[in-house]
Amino acid sequence: MRLEVEITGKTFRSAAGETHEVLAPVKFALSSGEVGVLIGPSGCGKSTMLRIILGLDHEFQGRIARPPQARIGMVFQEPRLLPWRSVEQNVRLVAPDVTDAKLSELFRILELQAHRDHFPGELSLGLARRVALARAFAVEPDLLVLDEPLASLDDALAGRLRDELATLVASRPVMTLLVTHSLDDAIRLGDRLFFLSPRPARIVQDVPIAIPRAMRSEADFGRIRAELAALQLESK
Ligand SMILES: Nc1ncnc2c1ncn2[C@@H]1O[C@H](COP(=O)(O)OP(=O)(O)OP(=O)(O)O)[C@@H](O)[C@H]1O
Ligand SMILES: [Mg+2]
Repeated sequence: MRLEVEITGKTFRSAAGETHEVLAPVKFALSSGEVGVLIGPSGCGKSTMLRIILGLDHEFQGRIARPPQARIGMVFQEPRLLPWRSVEQNVRLVAPDVTDAKLSELFRILELQAHRDHFPGELSLGLARRVALARAFAVEPDLLVLDEPLASLDDALAGRLRDELATLVASRPVMTLLVTHSLDDAIRLGDRLFFLSPRPARIVQDVPIAIPRAMRSEADFGRIRAELAALQLESK
């Protein structure tokens, strides 16, 4: 399976009637098993790009090729849970075929066991984000799209979930697109990093990480971080 993104432009019209260019030409592709990471300043157009890629926004110029039968898992920037359904019901609703064992495993990994019967209004933002992650994984997606999924979690939990995310992504041939502001998350989870310009977003650096995710050591992370710092200096 392969995701091909070829956006040539995207504009929004403001309430005052002015046209704002949000995306410049952006072109990249992802294959099964690959994790692409989008990194860019706030407001540059990342969430807009994800909505286009998911087929939720058709008002753009260009072309998106998604495998038509691909199952999609999505974690939006806001958790978007149904307030009148429990945590477990929110997950089962999008993944009616999920087994009890799989659901229990997901809740264990995401440290949600104690919250299965809670309603979204009873959750902190961090808990709600974890439910959104459980929901995205429960569908066993072929395309997984994550918009800052680890934001608003404390460092220790974000670190644990990042490791779990890496395990979940490695356990299936899934194409993953992750938006993050964390360079650490990017180099631990990503296979290719796309650095975006301020709005209108275009890719200013496309950085592949050659070492397979599972084989990267702490020393590798340090070296990759230094290489990225040098690259970003050059691009300025
Ligand atoms: N529905 C809309 N109508 C008009 N303008 C919009 C709309 N949605 C987003 N924008 C504008 O498009 C630009 C990009 O927004 P977007 O949410 O894609 O940014 P982002 O890169 O995801 O930012 P962040 O890192 O803060 O989440 C912003 O200037 C925003 O104000
Ligand atoms: Mg966003």
